[in-house]
Amino acid sequence: MTGIAQRAQRVSPSLTLEITAKAKKMRAEGKPVVSFGAGEPDFNTPQYIVKAAERALKEGMTKYTPASGTDAVKKAIAAKLEKDNHLKYELNQIVVSNGAKHSLYNAFLALVNPGDEVIVPAPYWLTYPELIKLCEGIPVFVNTKAENDFKLTPSELKNAITSKTKAVLINNPCNPTGAVYSKEELCALAEVLEKTDVYVVSDEIYEKLVYEGGEYYSIAQHSPALKERTVVIGGVSKTYSMTGWRIGYTASSEAVAKAMGGIQSHTTSNPNSIAQYAASEAYSHSEGDAFLSDMKKTFDTRRKFMIERLKKIPELEFVYPKGAFYVMLNVAHLFGKSTESGKKLSSAYDVATELLAEKMVAAIPCESFGAPEYLRLSYAISLDDIKTGLERIADFISSLA
Ligand SMILES: Cc1ncc(COP(=O)(O)O)c(C=O)c1O
Repeated sequence: MTGIAQRAQRVSPSLTLEITAKAKKMRAEGKPVVSFGAGEPDFNTPQYIVKAAERALKEGMTKYTPASGTDAVKKAIAAKLEKDNHLKYELNQIVVSNGAKHSLYNAFLALVNPGDEVIVPAPYWLTYPELIKLCEGIPVFVNTKAENDFKLTPSELKNAITSKTKAVLINNPCNPTGAVYSKEELCALAEVLEKTDVYVVSDEIYEKLVYEGGEYYSIAQHSPALKERTVVIGGVSKTYSMTGWRIGYTASSEAVAKAMGGIQSHTTSNPNSIAQYAASEAYSHSEGDAFLSDMKKTFDTRRKFMIERLKKIPELEFVYPKGAFYVMLNVAHLFGKSTESGKKLSSAYDVATELLAEKMVAAIPCESFGAPEYLRLSYAISLDDIKTGLERIADFISSLA
């Protein structure tokens, strides 16, 4: 590829987009496709937040703000971190960015030197390795085990740390597995990390979507020393169904925040001023708690339905989901089988492609998520669609020979 920088060439194209684009096209042609591809809550942003944005516009909050965010939004985030996570941060430790994805990119840009290793437990959200590669770091994948619910264990972490390890990525709850780490599991990882100088990038974007559980625990809570080396990543996208507003944040040591703020001041300047105001209001009102509790209840009903229905499909194994809004299905037992139209399945990508072509169900093949034997199904869709979609998946599996 002449002219294109190596860093850009290292970025992998997304298989996810290919399947979802196909599904969209089929829908546009009038086909009744059920798509389990959604990566965002299927709820409207609550009205009190929309109204806040209208106020911001009317009151002229339409100019540049400080590059790392206004004091108002930082105060709201600091108050949230203290109330929900028992973590105390000063305003100069918080950087507000264009979504948690941007926050993650800032974190890797601030921490990773060329050749530095970043430990990424697999399965992982497909963006992490690409961001690390863009920063000229090396993603080091640790294949976690199904019997541990795909959670990183202290010994796996210990074995993966080398003299080049700069950071470890913890995504809790996890996209795509839906796994949730307990306080004890995180503390055991923290104890390994405390004996090193490795940083933690803790992606907590799904923290409010934990089912069956007690209080959410952030690894940054473990000790002041580890908190100093942890970059907590959060945002409003999944919490208040604000994916399009693009507000995420980091909470970190002052030094790391200063580095990220400096980078952001030259790359994007401040995130959208109106969205910042709306986000500060999102965190500050009790309507937010009511919205969240409703949304969580709805997701939980769908999650339970999926678990019960999937259990009835013979030989189908899935990862029992406890957080976020995803379920991963193991489709390795279908490899080698053929569809009614004679297509042989030899990968999760094949299964997803044929499932869409034959039964009009879109699911995400997890090759790019470090889980090549799995499909990811999102339950951020209606219960009716879930019911129809799972019936079709059951039909598809039983039709294979
Ligand atoms: C694990 C994880 N982290 C971060 C993000 C990005 O969120 P945002 O919309 O705030 O950029 C996503 C979005 O899908 C995600 O799944």
